[in-house]
Amino acid sequence: MSEFVLRFEDDLTKRPRASARRDELDLDIRRSEKVMNEPIVRFENVTKRYGALTVLDELNLEIARNEKVSIIGPSGSGKTTVLRMLMTLEHINGGVIWVDGEPLTHTQKNGQIVPASERHLRRVRAKIGMVFQHFNLFPHMTALQNCMEAPISVLGLSKKEAEARAAELLDLVGLGDKKNHFPIQLSGGQKQRVAIARALAMRPKVMLFDEVTSALDPELVGEVLNVIRKLSAEHDLTMLMVTHQMGFAKEFSDRVCFFSGGKIVEQGPPSQLLGNPQNERTQQFLNAVLETR
Ligand SMILES: Nc1ncnc2c1ncn2[C@@H]1O[C@H](COP(=O)(O)OP(=O)(O)OP(=O)(O)O)[C@@H](O)[C@H]1O
Ligand SMILES: [Mg+2]
Repeated sequence: MSEFVLRFEDDLTKRPRASARRDELDLDIRRSEKVMNEPIVRFENVTKRYGALTVLDELNLEIARNEKVSIIGPSGSGKTTVLRMLMTLEHINGGVIWVDGEPLTHTQKNGQIVPASERHLRRVRAKIGMVFQHFNLFPHMTALQNCMEAPISVLGLSKKEAEARAAELLDLVGLGDKKNHFPIQLSGGQKQRVAIARALAMRPKVMLFDEVTSALDPELVGEVLNVIRKLSAEHDLTMLMVTHQMGFAKEFSDRVCFFSGGKIVEQGPPSQLLGNPQNERTQQFLNAVLETR
């Protein structure tokens, strides 16, 4: 660990004096201990506006390492926006998002928090993987190439390394035999499994899933949920999932957050939030969802 820090810093900075270097290393070790106990994701008073519309309203949300959190709530309540902000697909208008102890869109300079450089954004963003409702695969690339692209261009892996990693992950999602297929030759469930493998190829610490089964035919939903179950059971990953599937949210989550109007109105363990909600808006939402089933 300390060797890694040394090498990493050697790349970035001029070599400081030996004693200063030891102090720096001690500080790094203390920082990494602190980071392990910190939530891996923290939204601190985050506000997002589109023109006059406030979509996230001073949102506070903390997610612990390896925690599995589901976000539920009515259409337009800001669920996707939360994930898009974490992927830095858009700028926030207020507050700070912290990932792994670092501000995502800002850096600390002389004790001040200032907007982050593109380089900082790329580095922190690499800790997060996202799977979208509509797959968003590159249509002109095979399943294997889809999973190799970002590890080569962003992480700097060699073609050989990226190919080995991609093949392993396609096996993990049960698509070892389809790796040379293009997206058009795959079913919706298979495309979504490629999208999951592609996100995992970046070795993220946090995985975001945005209604990943809602564009699928009902009989294909199970195969995608099974992959997510397997990931959850076998890998140390923090997961944040927007879903309309209350049954899966109940089984999968450590915590469910009910969103309304860009705020968390109520949250708790699934048995409590889904089984015995306290807030009137949560009750109304769950009744409406159950009626349509
Ligand atoms: N790029 C944008 N420009 C303007 N308004 C936007 C933009 N993206 C989202 N919004 C608005 O922000 C609000 C929240 O959108 P968001 O996509 O987060 O909702 P959601 O909770 O994911 O809804 P759904 O369940 O329908 O997916 C909506 O009113 C939406 O119209
Ligand atoms: Mg959405």
